[in-house]
Amino acid sequence: MLPPYRIKVVEPIPFLSAEDRRQALEEAGYNPFNLRADQITIDLLSDSGTGATSAAQEAAAALGDESYAGARSWFRFRNEVHDLTGYPHILPVHQGRAGERVLFTSLLKPGQICISNTHFDTTGANVKLAGAKPLDLPDPRAADLDSQEPFKGNIDLDALERTLGGPEGHRVGLVLMTITNNGLGAQPVSMANLEAVRELCRRHRVPFFLDAARFAENAWLVGQREPAYRGWTPRQIATRAFELADGCVVSLKKDGLSAIGGFIGLRDDDLHAGCEANLIATEGFSTYGGLAGHDLERLAQGLREVVDPAYLRARAASTARLARMINEAGVETVQPAGIHALYLNAGSLLPHLAPHEFPGHSLGCQLYLDGGIRCAELGSLYLGGMDAKHRLLTPAPFELVRLAIPRRVYTDTHFEYVAAVLAEIAKEPERVSGYRIVSAPPLLRHFKVRLAPT
Ligand code: F0G
Repeated sequence: MLPPYRIKVVEPIPFLSAEDRRQALEEAGYNPFNLRADQITIDLLSDSGTGATSAAQEAAAALGDESYAGARSWFRFRNEVHDLTGYPHILPVHQGRAGERVLFTSLLKPGQICISNTHFDTTGANVKLAGAKPLDLPDPRAADLDSQEPFKGNIDLDALERTLGGPEGHRVGLVLMTITNNGLGAQPVSMANLEAVRELCRRHRVPFFLDAARFAENAWLVGQREPAYRGWTPRQIATRAFELADGCVVSLKKDGLSAIGGFIGLRDDDLHAGCEANLIATEGFSTYGGLAGHDLERLAQGLREVVDPAYLRARAASTARLARMINEAGVETVQPAGIHALYLNAGSLLPHLAPHEFPGHSLGCQLYLDGGIRCAELGSLYLGGMDAKHRLLTPAPFELVRLAIPRRVYTDTHFEYVAAVLAEIAKEPERVSGYRIVSAPPLLRHFKVRLAPT
């Protein structure tokens, strides 16, 4: 599938020797988050803030108005976000988690529950920091990694209804739907699911918000997979999704096609007043929210480019092609392929490693050792329950590795290289060794953990 752009500015990528990579990983405490970018050949750690901007975005950035308040760039950004989402109140933030903090500290009370299809890690952490409890109710069909169900990102509507109507129902302060479901294989959420969540939330008088970091990619997959939305443009579908919710919190480091940015969208005047006061005290005045005028300009333009069907079609096709190459090499991935990332099933590839040896992390390290490829574990290291001595008590349900795909950055040739490195590992999986934890912080363990080979 032909991408609707050609490349004008390029950046060299480093190639290290196998010995230099081994040494770099050892010095990083076997945690890819601690590697330096100039030690990495293909960086699939995150699709967040890692995309390429367009000539039109950079041209707009040159017009950035850096006035402290009421900058022209703010109005351009606000109008673009308002047209897309329909929310009367828009608050800019420097990235998604800043929006989470501002929203949750204004909306959630200590002791309340926030229900989601799946909270992203910082989202769950911010719910906890607001004194509330995150509760994930994913669709049980997501537990079958191989099934081709089109909307495995959905929330479990029966469980949601039971919780809202049950003894804990009065404690639920928010229902937050993550689109697409990043914690669960980049799987999309159907519009039918969002509509049903809205009805349940109305009935139980609970606010319904979207965590819409990948709103355009979710819209593309809805257009492809949900018959009622065939023929709708991605932008129309995205707008409809925002319309269903009472508000949203959005990291624009993904579908804003920019390195930084985010916003909170709200309908409620009082909630807006509370969030705005918090924003001014902690992020910046409400016409820039921690962003420069040139950032706001890039974002306003990026929000137009990201809903281009030709762009989304090519991006989805490129991810699907990588998935096919990987599967043909004998490595299973969560099915069906999403758009922003592929999730390798390290558990099935490395049966010789027990969960406490962190098979997902082991595969991630091997990808770096063999090919300079950086990615993120989504298995027992990230999700497992541990005691104070870092002993694994409850393993994660799956041992996955996420290959996140930056937007407009790598070509299919880069992905052929990634598939070839994986194919070599799949030929001799027993040579992948396990890891044990040496030290780890209590919250958001995976970012700063240090390990050693077993
Ligand atoms: N919500 C979702 C679904 C996310 O994926 C992220 C970030 C955030 C919120 C937080 O946004 O990074 O702008 O503060 N995800 C990145 C990732 C980091 O790699 O998946 P942020």
